[in-house]
Amino acid sequence: MKYKVLIIIALIAIIIQFIPYGKEHSNPPVLAEAKWDSPKTEKLFYRACGDCHSNKTKWPWYSNIAPVSWLVQHDVEEGREHFNVSMWGKQKRNKGDEAKEEFEEGEMPPWFYIIAHPEAQLLETERDELLKGLLATFKKTINFQIIFNDNKI
Ligand code: HEC
Repeated sequence: MKYKVLIIIALIAIIIQFIPYGKEHSNPPVLAEAKWDSPKTEKLFYRACGDCHSNKTKWPWYSNIAPVSWLVQHDVEEGREHFNVSMWGKQKRNKGDEAKEEFEEGEMPPWFYIIAHPEAQLLETERDELLKGLLATFKKTINFQIIFNDNKI
């Protein structure tokens, strides 16, 4: 009985690997990189946020294995859709103006991302630097957003 259950679980684990979703792992070309206020901000951003908010995603090995692959694919697609530093000014929805707030309030990066990516856990000083950097880099985009919303572009 016990073995039967194990065999069924193993079979399911194998079968779900054949579901095509989650294997795409595309990194579309960078059309326009956000104008970083400093290389330091850029570096910290790519440590804590870039995998889901840029077209320069580093896809880890386990992102090939279902069901983790489904979650990763979904997060990257949705993350890019909301805010993508590789499509600066090229993508209608780009919520850079909320980046500082999301990070400050601990909403971003998502907790499960930090568990899988310990390097995304910033030191106190790095945290302060990224907060300042996000504000300096993206505050200009508030106007951007308004212009887009009014469809003046
Ligand atoms: C594991 C992937 C992942 C990482 C890493 C990540 N995000 Fe996100 N982010 C998402 C997803 C998915 C959404 C859209 C759903 C949501 O708002 O929760 C999002 C939404 C956002 C939004 C838009 C919020 C809104 O209401 O539309 C901002 C701004 C943002 N993230 C900033 C950041 C910043 C800054 C970092 C780094 C400190 C970061 N994110 C790290 C996945 C991620």
